[in-house]
Amino acid sequence: MDYVLIERDEEIAVIRLNRPEAKNALNLQVIAELGEAADIVARDPQVKGVIVTGGEGDFAAGGDIKEMATKYAPDMLTAYGADLSGFEKLERIPKPVIAAVSGYALGGGCELALVCDMIVASDTAVFGLPEITLGIIPGAGGTQRLPRLVGPNRAKEMIFTGSFYKAEEALAMGLVNKVVPVEKLMDEAKALLRKCTRHGAVALACAKASVNEGMNTDLYTGLAYERKCFSLLFSTEDQKEGMTAFVEKRKPQFKGR
Ligand code: CAA
Repeated sequence: MDYVLIERDEEIAVIRLNRPEAKNALNLQVIAELGEAADIVARDPQVKGVIVTGGEGDFAAGGDIKEMATKYAPDMLTAYGADLSGFEKLERIPKPVIAAVSGYALGGGCELALVCDMIVASDTAVFGLPEITLGIIPGAGGTQRLPRLVGPNRAKEMIFTGSFYKAEEALAMGLVNKVVPVEKLMDEAKALLRKCTRHGAVALACAKASVNEGMNTDLYTGLAYERKCFSLLFSTEDQKEGMTAFVEKRKPQFKGR
């Protein structure tokens, strides 16, 4: 892949955007490569958690405006509509996924962070959905995932004004989980991820699916989904180990099965 790198740190896979000359703008190739990377880390049993990042530079300054500038509706409905599934592939990785954001996370870049389960931002991070300033609206989930996360009124402010928000403002509105000094970004993101990956992988996958399914449906359908996942976990070795370890007053050794 040209613009997306996959690095490994023990059980963590880092999906790193690598198009600094364009502030990691998301052209069709980058989006397709993100989808490929999502498939690779999702299938790798050695990978227990994933970080999506642009490193200490910029996360991503949005969809590639130069690539989109001359396009018409049919192009956007076909090629672009199909390739945005790269975002959905990332969202459906059945493992915890953290966006480690520094610098600009604008437009499609902000929307990329929103498909992750949690967002750790550096003190240099700047979030925004400036599509309105280009005569369009967010097209990769911004009008859907953002209001589900921060509420419709805050989302509308961000979408209608096209304003930029510093990391601390994003924290105050509930867009990010925590803000850390830029030089500690990756360490803090990995530390948060490891707090998750020390637990059983099947339970984590069920927890993620249950929250995500529940966010997209009514309460009682969500509760029924949760109950099925909860019950299914009683057929795993990890459930037996977790509860036996509690009774025996020792730490559990989860195997992810
Ligand atoms: N698309 C294409 N190229 C981009 C880009 C983008 N979204 N963002 C930055 N770049 C390019 C610039 O054109 C520039 O390239 P050249 O050197 O060839 O001129 C290079 O990256 C560096 O950028 P700047 O010189 O502009 O850097 P700056 O520090 O002065 O400004 C910025 C940084 C505020 C992020 C500014 O680049 C900017 O406003 N970018 C666009 C942000 C935006 O509107 N994003 C939304 C895009 S639409 C979208 O995302 C739709 C969707 O929902 C999928």
